[in-house]
Order: sequence, then structure tokens, then C-alpha cells
Amino acid sequence: MNDKVTVSTLKKFKKDGIKITALTAYDYPTAKILDETGIHFILVGDSLGMAVLGYESTIPVTMDDMVHHTKAVAKAAKNAFIVADMPFMTYNISKEDALKNAARLLAEGGAQAVKLEGGVEIAETVKAIVNAGIPVVGHIGLTPQSVNKLGGYKVQGKDDKTASKLKSDAKSLEDAGICALVLECVPIDLAREITESLSIPTIGIGAGPYCDGQILVLHDMLGLTQGHKPKFVKQYANIDKIIRESVNNYISDVQNSLFPTEEYSFASRKSDVK
Ligand code: KIV
Repeated sequence: MNDKVTVSTLKKFKKDGIKITALTAYDYPTAKILDETGIHFILVGDSLGMAVLGYESTIPVTMDDMVHHTKAVAKAAKNAFIVADMPFMTYNISKEDALKNAARLLAEGGAQAVKLEGGVEIAETVKAIVNAGIPVVGHIGLTPQSVNKLGGYKVQGKDDKTASKLKSDAKSLEDAGICALVLECVPIDLAREITESLSIPTIGIGAGPYCDGQILVLHDMLGLTQGHKPKFVKQYANIDKIIRESVNNYISDVQNSLFPTEEYSFASRKSDVK
């Protein structure tokens, strides 16, 4: 694929019924591989905190962390649509803060869009960012930055009242101008209803098959995440096992003088003498 994915491409994918493929990335080499596979959408998620930085949640992730990692991803990804997460409390204190921080992710990081968690309560902020010319991706359902308010990483919108709140969140974000909406951990039927009610694409994670696209955290789907694996994660590889086996083989080779052999060494200076 040789065409840069833009907000218009995402809209067209929804209209044409083409499923949007999305994954997270946080560094240059993985972003380059993802981009070369033809993935449509790369999210520099604040899952960076858990996947890469060893934090227990996304809450400690900073703007500087996000700019730093977005830069590496943007350098690598020539075709995919690059979205960067706005971290915890970088868009909730004032619209001015939100605009400045969103602008950094585009101007310094090289992202094409920013992602914010929340519904009706952030719609005015979303509108201000979109009006400033910055595409915004929404994120509702399980919003990990609010894990303390939600009381854990749980499925959202299971009863009529919370489902109806999520439907009005989706509508007010669409009215505010978002270009796509991440639906995280919501029941299949609710995700379907929201998807069918919107003109912009939904991208599901733990939201069933009826979303317009799907996203997973790269480290989860590659088997590189330590600890709990959520129900919605399909693991496509076991990179943890590959790294362990490779490093154990290296340790054994070095300790048994099996590495480096001549093949991995430079010829002795004596052989250069004529
Ligand atoms: O930070 C992240 O990786 C995300 C995805 C789970 C959608 O927000």
C-alpha cells in the first residue's frame, strides 16, 4: 500500500464497508514493520505506560513521554494514520491547556490526530481542538484514565442507564467533530447500535465484531505483556517465549565459547601480511 491514510480515507472505509485495522506502537522499528504490513491506523497509546514503561496504569504517563514516543513512530510510519493519546489531565483543566498539548503531539510528535477519553463532559474541548484544525479520535466505554472512578477495568454499558449514557456520549462527540471513535469493553449489541448510529467509524477493543474497525495493544497480541491478559485479546504470537529462548541460547553459547566463532570475527592481522 502506498497511500497515506487520512481522515477522509477513514470515512470512506466506513462508507465502503472496509474494516479498519489498527494497532498500537511506541517505537521506530515496530512502527516501521506495522506500516509496511499495510495496517491502516497506528495509535501511540498511553498504554505505553504499562506496555513499555513498567507502570501499573496509564495515569503517570506525561506529555513529554507521549511526544518522545510519537516522534519515533511518526518517523517510521509513512502510510498509516498516526494517532497519539493525550495523557491523563492534559485536556481536562482548561481548553487552553488542551489546545497547547494537542498541538504539541502534531507539531513536535508528528501525529495526524489526537485521542481523548470521555463523552459529553469533554465535547466542548473536543470541538475547540477540532476547530483549531486538529483531528480528534474519541474514546468511550472503558476509559483507562478513569480506572479509579470506574472501580477497575470492567465492561461498561451493561444496563439501560449506562448504555444510554454511552449512546449520548457517542452522539455528542460526533457532533463535536471527531473523526473516529474507540469503543472499549462494551457489550456487542451496544457497540453495534452505536456503530450503526454514527457517520464516523467506530474502532472496537473488546467491543465485538460489528465495529467499523478493530484495535489491540501490540504487546498483548504479540504475547509480550506480563501478567493479566484481558478476555478480548487474541494472542497471535509468543514473543516472550522467543526472547527467552534466544537469550538463553546466547548465554549458553557465550559460556561454552560457541560464540563468537570465526564467522562472527574479523580476520587476524597476520593474514593481511603479504
Ligand atoms: O492506550 C491505548 O493503547 C488505547 C487502546 C487500548 C485503544 O487507548
